[in-house]
Amino acid sequence: VDDDTPPQTLSERSVAAVAEYIKSGRARRIVVMTGAGISTAAGIPDFRSPETGLYANLASLNLPEPEAVFDLSFFRQNPAPFYVLAKDLYPGNYHPTVSHVFISLLASKGLLHQLFTQNIDCLERAAGIPADLIVEAHGSFAAQRCIECKTPFGDAPMREHVRAGKVPRCERAPECDGLVKPDIVFFGEALPRLFFERTRMAAEADLILVMGTSLQVHPFASLPNLAPESVPRVLFNLERVGTLGSHADDVLVLGDCDAGVRKLADELGWREELETRWREL
Ligand code: APR
Repeated sequence: VDDDTPPQTLSERSVAAVAEYIKSGRARRIVVMTGAGISTAAGIPDFRSPETGLYANLASLNLPEPEAVFDLSFFRQNPAPFYVLAKDLYPGNYHPTVSHVFISLLASKGLLHQLFTQNIDCLERAAGIPADLIVEAHGSFAAQRCIECKTPFGDAPMREHVRAGKVPRCERAPECDGLVKPDIVFFGEALPRLFFERTRMAAEADLILVMGTSLQVHPFASLPNLAPESVPRVLFNLERVGTLGSHADDVLVLGDCDAGVRKLADELGWREELETRWREL
């Protein structure tokens, strides 16, 4: 009886089979999708983990609801909570994790087709992933500007304001006294054009890796569903999320993502290279 399930690409739904698929040379366009879970090991809290997530710890800022800290209309009337958070999140104090380094290893082996990240910590760049292979879907702290007249604001004065916990205002004061905000995508703002230009890369993938995300926020959360059913999708996450696990070739590697990535590196014979690259960063 030939049921209608599509033929499987992987010999079995396991890390070993994913390694075998990569070593066979059949996986040459790997698309990776990441979230805050790959930076928690670097010391940056994620958003929604019950105890340690940022949203659980913003109570001290008495926000109407946790996400308000990244809400544009709330920011306009009260920018202080965001700048309290910015002080904790600002790039420069953190080191890339083994998961970041694994992705840069894929790139160095010519296997990374595209990385879509929701993270604003710029650790992907610090891990050596080529900038043209990174889509920072929710922006980053890399630059900042006035939210009213869009005039860019200097990096050095921004760093000083963030460090002092001061709210920066437009450089064109007093003509414009708009608030300055990093190029982080707030709720209510559009994602960067690059995200929409590059989503087709997800549909071109021959292997999808999803790492450290709850897949709660759209349109990013729909990326893993852009790949055809025949494309294996591997989830490295503490818990099962989104539609992962529903395709014939989905592999769930539940638990700490660094541990999962190390398991895959072992099966690939890349473990030594991975650890050395991470130590030498
Ligand atoms: N190993 C594996 N998974 C982990 C680890 C870890 N060490 N630490 C956390 N996780 C998992 C959590 O269990 C959760 O499923 O990572 C996921 C993190 O989810 P969120 O905290 O919701 O972060 P993220 O998915 O990146 O949030 C998306 O929401 O707040 C907005 O714009 C913000 O980009 C952010 C977006």
